[in-house]
Amino acid sequence: MADSATSTNPLPRHVAVIMDGNGRWARERGEDRVFGHANGVDSVRAVVRAAGELGVEYLTLYAFSTENWSRPKEEINALMELLVSSLAGEVDELIAQGVRLRSVGALDSLPEACREALGDVEARTAVCTGLTLILALSYSGRWEITEAVRDIVRSGMAADDIDEDTLRNCMGLPDVPDPELLIRTSGEQRLSNFLLWQLAYSELHFTPVMWPDFREDHFRAAVHEFRGRERRFGRTGEQLRHAQNAGN
Ligand code: IPE
Ligand code: IPE
Ligand code: MG
Repeated sequence: MADSATSTNPLPRHVAVIMDGNGRWARERGEDRVFGHANGVDSVRAVVRAAGELGVEYLTLYAFSTENWSRPKEEINALMELLVSSLAGEVDELIAQGVRLRSVGALDSLPEACREALGDVEARTAVCTGLTLILALSYSGRWEITEAVRDIVRSGMAADDIDEDTLRNCMGLPDVPDPELLIRTSGEQRLSNFLLWQLAYSELHFTPVMWPDFREDHFRAAVHEFRGRERRFGRTGEQLRHAQNAGN
């Protein structure tokens, strides 16, 4: 998107999305919740395309949380089957768009078919140099931080040697920069245990649009709005403007 006069921030390198509202979207149509999940795949396709076209480097999608394991078994099975069929159905298009797939979460707890499908698409897209699409699966921020602490304790590191970078380097994907922007659909305004470490200074964008209705224009609008936000990182507004003027 072209810069507008009000833009102050560069394009976000990393956008994270909590894809929410599938169940309500389906219920509003008198359908089963799974119908909403199936329609949400169109939104994933649209957002991947929009992010790639804009030049966003990383897009992380919250696809299944640690807490989602407490949903009815039928819904979990349907979500896992949808993951497998979508990966198989989209891989050629991902490659055509230069999209590299990665994943984060307690992948061992996923059904074998999911792990195989993920591994296959990750391997086939490993050489792609465009957008990196990250699926958060069986993921939660507290799980990730707990795993990081375990790794550090196992390493035998002295307490006084541990700093923020130590923790950062023990997160699931330490080479990926923190998201500058988080989008959550469906009107809910909470993090639901997503990327708790990485979202420390992200800008938050909440939209009432249900995930199955979310399209390229919604994504572009969220990025555009982000670009006009004032990110202070603890400084005063005056300090910020002084730094901006000095940089011009
Ligand atoms: C998000 O939609 C998809 C997942 C959590 C897997 P929901 O299934 O949470 O839909 P609502 O929030 O109940 O409408
Ligand atoms: C968050 O949505 C998880 C995903 C989008 C995968 P939920 O619908 O599970 O979150 P809560 O339960 O409303 O907080
Ligand atoms: Mg929900």
